[in-house]
Amino acid sequence: MPYSIDTCRMIDLPKIHDPRGNLTFIESGNPIPFDIQRVYYLYDVPGGAERGGHAHKDLHQLIIAMSGSFDVVLDDGKDKQRIHLNRSYNGLYICPMIWRELDNFSSGSVCMVLASNKYDEADYYRDYAEFMRARWQA
Ligand code: TYD
Repeated sequence: MPYSIDTCRMIDLPKIHDPRGNLTFIESGNPIPFDIQRVYYLYDVPGGAERGGHAHKDLHQLIIAMSGSFDVVLDDGKDKQRIHLNRSYNGLYICPMIWRELDNFSSGSVCMVLASNKYDEADYYRDYAEFMRARWQA
């Protein structure tokens, strides 16, 4: 399989410690393995809600818990992994062709996503069976 959950990984973002408050910055290319074309964020997530539930054909993403915490479940059609995000200086890199679900949002949490391309509904697999068929054809 060209992409698997082993390609996904936690990326430590630079952190400038300061008694006035810490600072983290993100630049395209390094340490983020793609150019950032879009930023979006999830907030006001009600208790018990689930987000995601899809895969992307070509999109690369970095997910950061800017505030609070939540879980991301990665599924490459063979293996699954649940990852807890709760640090604003850690990002979860997700490569294309990974089914992801987000849940277990803490109250007031904010999930920021950096993406390698603009929004394109044609890039989504929203049907798990369709994702699996494409996965095993790859
Ligand atoms: P979706 O990607 O399904 O959200 P999530 O993965 O966080 O659960 O998107 C939800 C809706 O928002 C859907 O109608 C598409 C729209 N949307 C945009 O218009 N632009 C965007 O950049 C994103 C991420 C979603």
